[in-house]
Amino acid sequence: MKRKMILDCDTGHDDAIALMVASKHPNIDLLGVTVVAGNQTLPKTLKNTLNVCDHLGLDVPVYAGMSLPLVRKQYVADDVHGESGLDGPVFGPCNKKAEDKHAVLYLIETLMNSDGDITLVPVGPLTNIAMAIRLEPRIVDKIQEIVLMGGAINLGNATPAAEFNIYADPEAAQIVFSSGVKITMMGLDLTNTVLANMQIIERMEALGNKAGKLFGDIMRFTFKSQAVNGLEAGPVHDVTAVTYLIAPEIYKTKDMFVEVDTNIYGPSYGRTLCDFNNRYHKKANATIGLSLDLDAFWNIVEDTLRKHN
Ligand code: BDR
Ligand code: CA
Repeated sequence: MKRKMILDCDTGHDDAIALMVASKHPNIDLLGVTVVAGNQTLPKTLKNTLNVCDHLGLDVPVYAGMSLPLVRKQYVADDVHGESGLDGPVFGPCNKKAEDKHAVLYLIETLMNSDGDITLVPVGPLTNIAMAIRLEPRIVDKIQEIVLMGGAINLGNATPAAEFNIYADPEAAQIVFSSGVKITMMGLDLTNTVLANMQIIERMEALGNKAGKLFGDIMRFTFKSQAVNGLEAGPVHDVTAVTYLIAPEIYKTKDMFVEVDTNIYGPSYGRTLCDFNNRYHKKANATIGLSLDLDAFWNIVEDTLRKHN
């Protein structure tokens, strides 16, 4: 049976690839795409999302969401994603428009009208999801699961302590982690191992379709920009949250208690404190991805991109 999912993204290089996989994999029913500010400002992440949909002819509704984090000053990732948020690929004129409804209202209405069978896959700051939970707390019982990209057990990438998606809105992240919803977290410990090196880039380009070419244009850019994090190639972080829905058996995970450091004045603001060794003896509130079978992962990506134009 197909998994119903909503992708919440701040497109973004890896977000764009997550969208390519979510929109065409036969096991996924992508109901909608909600957009949030993150890698760049909301007008830019929205434009990038619409460009990708238009370029690949994706017939999925797109909703614009929160333009600012709940508490902190806006923080974007232009050092990795560039001035547009998706530097590298060149798109033609875009005919696709966002829906009129606000993303947070779309989330609430869709979840409240559901049978509790929708999974949320947030791969940007958690502002839209937290706002929806605060505006309509009854959605908590309607969300089947949240599978998110964000956080880290060990080192961060925005600061030594914090991963970008969490650092860009720590208060929102803490609302989500403490909500009681079943949460699966793909953090940097896992996602920094999923690198699109030149062999992978050429393999996807060899598909010879628009999606393979777009993958190449995207990952050739991050191949260079990721050097700021000491990586040898660009990681496709966000894609791992989507492929978890498709093939959870290729992941190694561990359940643990996670809380977000929301001390805005401290050096670890935005850190996901993961109680790996259960020192707090608290009930686990998240399943954390530790590693995945890379060959199986890239086969899924390749097979799915092949289904595109
Ligand atoms: C996360 O931050 C963004 O730059 C990426 O799109 C990904 O969601 C990785 O830390
Ligand atoms: Ca992202």
